[in-house]
Amino acid sequence: MNCDETRREAVRRFEQVFGRAPSATAYAPGRVEVIGNHTDYNEGYVLSAAIDMGTFFLAARRDDGACRLTAGDLMRTVEFPVADPRPDKAAPWANYVKGIVHGLTRGRGARRGFDALFLGNLPLGAGLSSSAALEMSAGLALGALFEVRLDRLAMARLGQAAEHEFAGVKCGLLDQITSLFARAGSLVMTDFRALTTEDVPLGGDAVFLMCNTAVKHALVDGEYNRRRRSCEKAAACFASVLDHPVKALRDVAWHEWERHAPAMEPVAARRAAHVIGENTRVLRGRELLAGGRLEEFGRLMFASHESSRVNFENSCPELDFLVKTAGAVPGVLGARLSGGGFGGSAVVLIHPRDAEVAGHALTAAYAKEFGHPCDVRAVTPSEGARLMEG
Ligand code: GLA
Repeated sequence: MNCDETRREAVRRFEQVFGRAPSATAYAPGRVEVIGNHTDYNEGYVLSAAIDMGTFFLAARRDDGACRLTAGDLMRTVEFPVADPRPDKAAPWANYVKGIVHGLTRGRGARRGFDALFLGNLPLGAGLSSSAALEMSAGLALGALFEVRLDRLAMARLGQAAEHEFAGVKCGLLDQITSLFARAGSLVMTDFRALTTEDVPLGGDAVFLMCNTAVKHALVDGEYNRRRRSCEKAAACFASVLDHPVKALRDVAWHEWERHAPAMEPVAARRAAHVIGENTRVLRGRELLAGGRLEEFGRLMFASHESSRVNFENSCPELDFLVKTAGAVPGVLGARLSGGGFGGSAVVLIHPRDAEVAGHALTAAYAKEFGHPCDVRAVTPSEGARLMEG
C-alpha cells in the first residue's frame, strides 16, 4: 500500500474498532542510515534520510482515564490506564506508545485517556526504524490530543526515552531525529554532540535501493546494547591516556587510535576504530555530496560496510552477500548495511536509470544464494513527520 492508501485504510479500521472518527492524525516516516554507523550515541555524525514509507497514528480523546490502543496490522487491542502505562512483554509493540504516553503526561496528572490505532507500510524488523516511526507519529498525534507542545528535539528525546525505558534498547537519537527533521530530496546531516541538523541535497541523479534480508535484527536481544558498552569502555580507555578531555569516541582522532590501540583490549580497539573511521567518512561524505561526487561517496559506503563487517562485527552473511554482489552490479555507486545491523536492510546508492535492472539482479542473486528472494525497493529522500488534518 502507498501512503494515501495506508491512511485511508487506517481510518477505516479506526472507525471499525472504535465506532467513531479520529480527531488527531499524524504520520512519521522510517529512515535510511546512509553513512555513519553507531556514531550517534558516540556523539558523532550521521548522514541519513527519511523514506517514503512510515506509520499513521490516529487518536480520539476519551472521557475516562482508559487508553485503548490497536495495532492496525494485527487488529489487536490493548488497554492501559493513562495514569500508569507500564511495559508488557505480551504486547511489545504497545510499549513504544506507552513510553510516549508516559513521557507526554509525566508530571501533568493526565486524567483522560484515548482510543488510538496505528497502521504503517514499513516492513517491520527491516532496519528502517518502524519503532521510531511509531513513536514519533504517536508523539505528534497524542501531543495534539493532550495539548502538550514540544519542539522537535524534545519529541525525539521522548522517543529515545521510550526505547530505553519501555523497550530496553539503549539507542541513540538517529532514528527519531531523521523521522522528524528530514526534508524531501535531502539527506539530514546531524551532529549528535551539538544536536544540530543540516540539509544536504542528494541531487536528482541518485536513489537508494533498500534490500531487506528479512533476517531479524537482534537489537532488543542485547547485541546493540553490548556494542554501546564497548564504545563507552573504549572512550574511557582513551580518556585515561590522552592529554585532552575525551567524553565520547567523537573526541578521539585516528592518529591517537593508531598510537594507543595496540595496548588496548582488542575488541574495544576494533569497536573504536569503526566509530572513529565512520565519523571521518561522514564528514568527507558531506563534502563529496556538496561537490556532486557521487562515485567517491559510494566508495565511502563500501568502506563503511567493510568496517562494520570487520571492526564492529554487526553485519551478517546475508548483508555481506548483498553488499559484495551490489559492488559488481552495473550502475551501483555504493552499498552498506543500514542501521543497527545484525540483519535488516542493506542500502544501495544508484543512478535512477539503473535502479530497476539492478534491483532485479540483486533479488535474483540473493534467491540463488539463500533459496528465497530479498525484498528490494527504490526509495527517495522524503519529507519528515507531520501532524495532519483530522
Ligand atoms: C539503530 C539505533 C540508532 C543508531 C543506529 C546505528 O537504528 O536506533 O540510534 O545507533 O542503530 O547507527
